[in-house]
Amino acid sequence: MVTGESTAVATSTSTEQSARTLGDLSGTIVLVGAGKMGGAMLDGWLALGLDGRTVVVIEPQPTRELTALAGRGLRLNPALNTVGEAAAIVIAVKPQIAPEAVPALAPCLGAGTIVVSIMAGRTLEFLEQALPQRAALVRAMPNTPAAIGRGITVAVPNAKVSARQRELVQALLSATGTVEWIADEALMDAVTAVSGSGPAYVFLLAEVLAQAGAAAGLPTDLAEKLARATVAGSGELLHRSPLDPATLRQNVTSPGGTTAAALDVLMAPDGLGALMDKAVAAATRRSRELAG
Ligand SMILES: NC(=O)c1ccc[n+]([C@@H]2O[C@H](COP(=O)([O-])OP(=O)(O)OC[C@H]3O[C@@H](n4cnc5c(N)ncnc54)[C@H](OP(=O)(O)O)[C@@H]3O)[C@@H](O)[C@H]2O)c1
Repeated sequence: MVTGESTAVATSTSTEQSARTLGDLSGTIVLVGAGKMGGAMLDGWLALGLDGRTVVVIEPQPTRELTALAGRGLRLNPALNTVGEAAAIVIAVKPQIAPEAVPALAPCLGAGTIVVSIMAGRTLEFLEQALPQRAALVRAMPNTPAAIGRGITVAVPNAKVSARQRELVQALLSATGTVEWIADEALMDAVTAVSGSGPAYVFLLAEVLAQAGAAAGLPTDLAEKLARATVAGSGELLHRSPLDPATLRQNVTSPGGTTAAALDVLMAPDGLGALMDKAVAAATRRSRELAG
């Protein structure tokens, strides 16, 4: 039997630390854009014990849940010049909105404010130019499993970020899953191609596995059920197991058996590895193009 004990212990320790950091926070957190990703982050912060009264949300189309939170003290859509200096500003609008939305945040920025952007393709240089000089910034790339607290976010700071600010950003980002810090922003395009876009590749795997099952003679609904449960269960096993994916794969492959027959096809020189190289390279290229 495999166990995920060491991962689970590490995760709960960092969750406790994040909860302490957010629970003790007295400054204001401004969230700009509470859509899919911003909304998931807000849910995570509140679940970790952040006091909703310290949160300002700027969102043109608030959900019913957000409006209900506003009734309990969260500040929804105040004029930005009434907010005062924020401890942190988290920008979660679409990248196309950035040229208008980012400079508008200047009234909430003070010497101690940390700005976190999760906008795909918007570089630290773009943010430095769109905000008042010397702003402390973190560019981050989350992914959609954030919606269930199982995302992974990669973060890169600019030179102005203090250790305290980094700790606050770690707490804010870890509310939706794991956080990895990198020093080289140039890696963000490949990060986007692997973990940012990656959930779509896994969903595609569930789709094509179901289609292949139907082509092999299974009723469509059974094929879909089998593929979905297989991808989800294998993902969970990978999450909980201390073993690496290659070992888990070898553990279900008997020499000369059925899995080996399929893997001979998938691991051929023109198989899944070659296809994934091409796919990730295409996404990396596109991320570079979009960043300009
Ligand atoms: N979803 C992902 O998997 C993922 C992964 C990595 C990074 N990201 C990044 O996360 C950001 C948000 O993505 P998302 O999927 O959460 O998008 P989304 O669901 O469209 O959320 C963006 C929200 O911002 C609101 N908004 C628009 N203009 C605004 C303004 N001027 N001020 C404040 N809020 C404004 C939008 O309202 P309206 O609907 O009224 O326009 C929407 O509710 C994007 O930059 C994306 O690149 C997303």
